[in-house]
Amino acid sequence: MVSVCFVCLGNICRSPTAEGVMKHLLCASGLEHAVHVDSAGTAGYHVGEPPDRRAQAAARRRGIVLDSRARQFGGDDWHRFDYILAMDQDNYEDLVARAPSKQLAKKVRLLRSFDPSAPKGASVPDPYYGGPKGFDDVLDMCEAAGRGLLAQIRREHGL
Ligand code: 4NP
Repeated sequence: MVSVCFVCLGNICRSPTAEGVMKHLLCASGLEHAVHVDSAGTAGYHVGEPPDRRAQAAARRRGIVLDSRARQFGGDDWHRFDYILAMDQDNYEDLVARAPSKQLAKKVRLLRSFDPSAPKGASVPDPYYGGPKGFDDVLDMCEAAGRGLLAQIRREHGL
């Protein structure tokens, strides 16, 4: 089974949104049993919490349910996941700095690098301190990148 983990800072806004969007795309393609999807945070401030209410509300308006619980990335995650997808440049740098080996660090990519219309090095900005539009923007970015990611997984794994 192919496995994907989305990683942001708190694991309550962006990465749970990316997880929900990717699961939704996989279900629509009939591939929900072929790809395992999870999310985590580089920080542990919100461990055990459900996704931010604003993220849940924005996703629900698109028919997407966010049902994860926040957890911190680390340990066995480096081995369990094939794709470790950072939401922004800080998350990317934190992950690469903490990777147990250079080989494992290669699993880390910026999520938006899978969106052919996104500029090189583009991040999914943190919506936590902003208004509701930020959460819709996160969904748009996750949908565009999630489509590109799904296409790449299908190519690489013959799905
Ligand atoms: P996330 O957003 O990284 O997209 O889950 C944040 C959530 C919480 C905080 C920062 C960003 N915080 O500072 O508590």
